Amino acid sequence: MQNTLLSNFNVSLRAAKNLGTFSTTCMQGDALKVFNQYAALNAVDSAAYPEMTHITSQCGEFLLSLFNADERGNYHYFPTSGSSEAVFVSLLLMKHHWQLKNKNIEKPNIILSPTAHVAFHVAAKSLDIDINLLDYKDTIDVTAIHNYINKNTMALICSMGNTITLQMEEVEKVNALLGRHFKNTGDFIPIHVDAASGGFVAPFFYPQLIWDFRLEHVQAINVSSHKFGLVYPSLGWLCIHNDYYLSDLSHENSYLGKKIKRTVVQFSQPASQLAAQHYNIHTLGFSGYQNIVHELFSKVSLLSEAFKKMDFFNLVTPSSQPAVPGIIFTFKDNKQDKMIELSRYLNQRYWHLPTFELAHLGNKTAARIIVRNGLSEQLIDELVLDINAFLHPSTQIIKKS
Ligand SMILES: Cc1ncc(COP(=O)(O)O)c(C=O)c1O
Repeated sequence: MQNTLLSNFNVSLRAAKNLGTFSTTCMQGDALKVFNQYAALNAVDSAAYPEMTHITSQCGEFLLSLFNADERGNYHYFPTSGSSEAVFVSLLLMKHHWQLKNKNIEKPNIILSPTAHVAFHVAAKSLDIDINLLDYKDTIDVTAIHNYINKNTMALICSMGNTITLQMEEVEKVNALLGRHFKNTGDFIPIHVDAASGGFVAPFFYPQLIWDFRLEHVQAINVSSHKFGLVYPSLGWLCIHNDYYLSDLSHENSYLGKKIKRTVVQFSQPASQLAAQHYNIHTLGFSGYQNIVHELFSKVSLLSEAFKKMDFFNLVTPSSQPAVPGIIFTFKDNKQDKMIELSRYLNQRYWHLPTFELAHLGNKTAARIIVRNGLSEQLIDELVLDINAFLHPSTQIIKKS
């Protein structure tokens, strides 16, 4: 059988040069040491590794304070394999809550923007929930929401950093609209905020944004530790108000030597990510994360300036709208093939530049660069050189000779 594994060098280089991924591709120093130390442990086995209970609760408490859950005792948090599992569990709990409250046997629905992550479609399909899909806009269209609400609407989804444009939605405005709806009808519609990438960004870079548990209708938030939480895949979280927690949906067993109650889908849980998240929280704290996120946005400015200077591209993000650190761009002359050619060209230089279509811009082909921790200024310089070489092939030949 052929060995398809790459050398260590190749693996980390390709991860570092993956421009599209939201995942952490670079852990270093003691954080990496902790990650490796815990690799042999299954975190669910808290009878054998009692510190995992403490580690998990410290991380959960940090997230609740980050998301401004004033009364911590009012919320549950669950570590999951990522945001997708967190979304699944949230919709499962919300559906049961809605059915119990409404004694309703009709099919519930959620209101979703077309830029929402596919995880919501997957969960809704599996849980037999309808989707009321808003019209395509770069972020959720608050003014149109009331047309999509009906008596079976069990939740509304907002993104703090959608996967398509990276932009954060106006959760505060959505909350106000749902507040008015409640006043007029008596129907309380909860908001689930998808903060997969923005959960570790907004509190540090956009402190003026109010999008979290301070808002009455925000009842659940998911976040991925393996994105801007600075931990390798795969760890996410669901934070949800106790009203939606149903112990009937948990499963209990004692075959690991201790009673273990789980609500999430997966049973086993890798300990490395939890330990590394705990380590990061304790060593970086709020101010450490804040510094890192501010550095990322300085690199976004650097990259945006370089792109503007090239004069070949339109920047969709960054714009005036708050967003997670990264850029989304299209070619100015709208030559769809050119972006694919650029992506292929870069691929020969080990970069991975994902391209996709922007429905709200007439299906123009766009590309995404996420500015993650690990995308160094040196790598940015190298990338800009490579893009310039693609844009000006003749200049490159002259340089070489
Ligand atoms: C906005 C958003 N939501 C959900 C997800 C799914 O997250 P995970 O990969 O942690 O399951 C992603 C992944 O990129 C995302 O960008």
